[in-house]
Amino acid sequence: MTQHTLSKQDYESFRKFLEDACGIVLGENKHYLVTSRLSRLLDEFNFSSLSGMIEKLKQVNNTELKEKIIDAMTTNETSWFRDKYPFEILHDELFTEIAAAKKPAMRIWSAASSSGQEAYSISMTFSEYQTKNPGKFSGRLEIIGTDISPTVLKLAREGKYDELSLARGLSAERLKRFFIDQGDGGFKVRPEIASRCKFSELNLLKNYSILGKFDIIFCRNVLIYFSADIKTDILTRMAKLLNPGGYLFLGGSESPTGYCNLYEMVKFKAGVVYRLK
Ligand SMILES: C[S@@+](CC[C@H](N)C(=O)[O-])C[C@H]1O[C@@H](n2cnc3c(N)ncnc32)[C@H](O)[C@@H]1O
Repeated sequence: MTQHTLSKQDYESFRKFLEDACGIVLGENKHYLVTSRLSRLLDEFNFSSLSGMIEKLKQVNNTELKEKIIDAMTTNETSWFRDKYPFEILHDELFTEIAAAKKPAMRIWSAASSSGQEAYSISMTFSEYQTKNPGKFSGRLEIIGTDISPTVLKLAREGKYDELSLARGLSAERLKRFFIDQGDGGFKVRPEIASRCKFSELNLLKNYSILGKFDIIFCRNVLIYFSADIKTDILTRMAKLLNPGGYLFLGGSESPTGYCNLYEMVKFKAGVVYRLK
């Protein structure tokens, strides 16, 4: 395979494109990451060099190329019940608190859902909650999963996973209860779990007021890729989408502190969550 290289100027130009388009800030030394991920797209779009492809990004009418490039540059790492504590807090504390308001529906947003594991883990937690607390909440649970990457959203909507990805955080008991063996090495999320989840494409830099209000937002392991200004902007706009007293789950290394003062930290036995002030 031809070894493609990037000039300093091309790298800087690409960094700017990526940050403006989706907020992802590339460090000074990610040349290898950029060359390896972009090289895969050269043939598909008939470019002979990375330089030519990056130059083309400056033109306005290149939606397909731009989307494919953003898709290639996102890190979609995820797992089932990631970090465990958010799901324990949902199960042990928040579902009961929200159920007490006796609303017809509880709404949760998985704001960087990747291939769906986070949204489906929330739905499985809800089924477990309902089994343990029959009749406590008679309303619906709606889970909206959004991501910028069409590739991962396709996987999320299919809801079918191979054994390797299921091995990442899913117990044998949950696999048996919540998945249907497809007989081809794949397991599909049961309709009871999948029917609560809807997935759609959404760039967190763009407007999301159309999504409506939520009781809980999961925005986990995505703010780390963004600049301070973008973190502030996203956290501030998410606060507007939370119902009074609504909760925000961030990734283990993320916090609103220093970026947005609209949230207060709430410490539960299992871990920390942020509540709209
Ligand atoms: C590391 S994954 C985190 C997935 C999941 N929340 C978790 O914690 O396991 C980050 C996701 O953020 C998405 N992403 C990156 N930039 C985004 C943006 N500007 N708008 C929406 N999603 C974005 C990526 O496509 C990726 O699927």
